[in-house]
Amino acid sequence: MNPKKIVDNVYWVGAIDWDRRLFDQLIPLPQGTSYNSYLIQGSDKTVLIDTVDPAMTDLLLGYLKHLDVTSIDYVVTNHAEQDHSGSLPQVLAMYPNAQVICTTKCKPMLADLLLIPEGRIRTVEDGETLSLGDKTLQFIYSPWVHWPETMVTYLKEDGILFSCDFFGSHIASSDLFVENEAEVYQAAKRYFAEIMMPFRAPIQKNMSKIQDLAITMIAPSHGQVYGNPEFILEAYRDWVYGEPKNLVVIPYVSMHGSTKRMVEYFVGALMDRGVKVQQFDLVGADLGEMSSALVDAATVVVGTPTVLVGAHPLALYAAHLVNALRPKAKYVSVIGSHGWASKAVEQVSGILSNLNAEMLEPVIIKGFPKEADFAALDRLADQIAEGGRS
Ligand code: FEO
Repeated sequence: MNPKKIVDNVYWVGAIDWDRRLFDQLIPLPQGTSYNSYLIQGSDKTVLIDTVDPAMTDLLLGYLKHLDVTSIDYVVTNHAEQDHSGSLPQVLAMYPNAQVICTTKCKPMLADLLLIPEGRIRTVEDGETLSLGDKTLQFIYSPWVHWPETMVTYLKEDGILFSCDFFGSHIASSDLFVENEAEVYQAAKRYFAEIMMPFRAPIQKNMSKIQDLAITMIAPSHGQVYGNPEFILEAYRDWVYGEPKNLVVIPYVSMHGSTKRMVEYFVGALMDRGVKVQQFDLVGADLGEMSSALVDAATVVVGTPTVLVGAHPLALYAAHLVNALRPKAKYVSVIGSHGWASKAVEQVSGILSNLNAEMLEPVIIKGFPKEADFAALDRLADQIAEGGRS
């Protein structure tokens, strides 16, 4: 495959990882991903924006050879994580005069993670510009998208924002530019949920910092290039600033059917009240889908049986994930069953300590649900429906 031209003298030279199915041995990648690197050939200077995952370095180096790139002056490293910085050692070896450009926080991270010699790294200040001759780069610190050292790089003359993980999506595609916005919306939302959602406050500041730039394209380092940047900017505004919707996310597990029957009844009760619901059977659930649902959810209800007097480990894992992702949910609760005693509520509520959410009256019952238990679930559904109307 050849490099792909984005505009005159700006090329995509990345790697498409069609078959990868896990990131960080944790995050499901149902559509694979890409590691986008970009080459900018100014009249005086040549710059590479980010590199690729180390496993795919050969692809990047092959593109550079294909374009007859005999000299690289700078390798802009927007982010130190190895899926973007991991090919730096080979690139720097191939181009011995190249200097890495990064934030002050990124420099020691590159030394720690990749053993890059300090003498090869030049740090830039927030807002600093760099002339490439007929093109100009501006470096804009954008901390916590999603590490402390992250920045974005703006190519002024072409209006391209190289945003690295910010605005990215895990999607492998033969399309250079976004063509199917509905598909990319779902992938970008899932990516936001898994990677960016815990950092909504810093993202608000970063969105403010770029709002006055004349952006004609956003070129992230995962997924496709946004030729219509307003599409993803508007989506981020909703995910970051928008109020949660009256959606209930129910991660649950059931051993002998009692908790499952409670979930079935409860979901029906919510639907009868006009409340949207997404339930996830934690045995085999795609936790990326659950994370995506959490972006909008006003309420999270964990359904769990009791094992050794506590919540089921799958329910505890889901609660831990919800807590780590810090969704904007306003309400949480627990429903489930036990045989003789349960500390499930204390355990789950203890785990959800990051959430600024009210605990609605849990429904923990003994054995299989009976009329009084269904009535308690109805009351919980009433509360949630009322919350959604307030
Ligand atoms: Fe795609 Fe944070 O690396």
